[in-house]
Amino acid sequence: MASPARFSHYRFLSKIGRNALFALKRNRGDADSIRVTQKAAKSKQLLQVLPKVIEFEVTNRCNLKCVMCPHGMGAIESPRDADISLLDVLWPGMLQADYVHLNGVGEPMMSKPFWEVIDRLRGKKRPLIEFNTNGLLMTEENVARLRQAPVWFILVSLDAATRETYEDIRGGDFETVLEGIKRLVAPSKRNISVVMTYVLMKRNIEEAAAFVDLAARLGVKTVSYHHLTDTVIPAESWVVQKISGWKFVYTEQRLSNYPELNNANMKKAIEAGKRLGVKVVGPDLFFKTPRIDTNGN
Ligand SMILES: C[S@@+](CC[C@H](N)C(=O)[O-])C[C@H]1O[C@@H](n2cnc3c(N)ncnc32)[C@H](O)[C@@H]1O
Ligand code: SF4
Repeated sequence: MASPARFSHYRFLSKIGRNALFALKRNRGDADSIRVTQKAAKSKQLLQVLPKVIEFEVTNRCNLKCVMCPHGMGAIESPRDADISLLDVLWPGMLQADYVHLNGVGEPMMSKPFWEVIDRLRGKKRPLIEFNTNGLLMTEENVARLRQAPVWFILVSLDAATRETYEDIRGGDFETVLEGIKRLVAPSKRNISVVMTYVLMKRNIEEAAAFVDLAARLGVKTVSYHHLTDTVIPAESWVVQKISGWKFVYTEQRLSNYPELNNANMKKAIEAGKRLGVKVVGPDLFFKTPRIDTNGN
């Protein structure tokens, strides 16, 4: 049972930080889960229970400008890391939580608070840590540091099975990410589960099955596909011109425009998963003609 003193740690989070305001949000429908983001908070919140799950946005800075991300449109105002003082306030709660998600619209591995959490948890068994990363900073040294903490699983975002597509969508160095994934999945006393993720769009849908092959070659056991979402920027104004000549036009890239193309390629990905022993997690297929079910039949 948590003491009243601990509850107070969660009381005034909206005022923490000299220049920044932080929002503490209880995740909808889940009293045991909170989200700490860099959005300005209008009200203070008092939690009734210590959260089992804490989502902590360690940064909203990034070293990439992926076309489908608000960073690609320069739409993140004053990108910054969370203050370490915020982490100090969250810390007693983090030690009591079951899971900590180090997420946000940014690259966690380039931020100081991310490594502060990892290093403070060195040698501990909980809370279990999970985060998304673009994988560009998965050096030997960083992987060793991650293995010393209770890192449970890591989602590495690729969105492509080839260098050309990766460069169009993400713009980083494809090979660097692949090398990082190999380091992560290499056998070790402390294994970390790795998931490769893929935001589906017209530009990459035909590589969806090849992505499963790539995962199998790298030794990754799960791939996860998602559709584009436009929660931050209105879809109609979302256009990014790439130096390669390719232009990302959000309204032309969403696959709800091409249900048959989507379904045929996702069916191939599901089949590749069955053939290669890779778990394929993805959205429902579009149920327009021809209708195919989630087992690929
Ligand atoms: C915002 S990123 C932050 C973590 C890290 N920088 C990365 O790329 O994994 C988290 C996830 O959101 C995905 N994402 C970005 N923009 C998206 C969009 N418009 N729709 C759906 N997913 C998106 C990314 O591909 C990534 O897997
Ligand atoms: S790496 Fe992640 S946060 Fe950075 S631009 Fe790409 S999707 Fe956005």
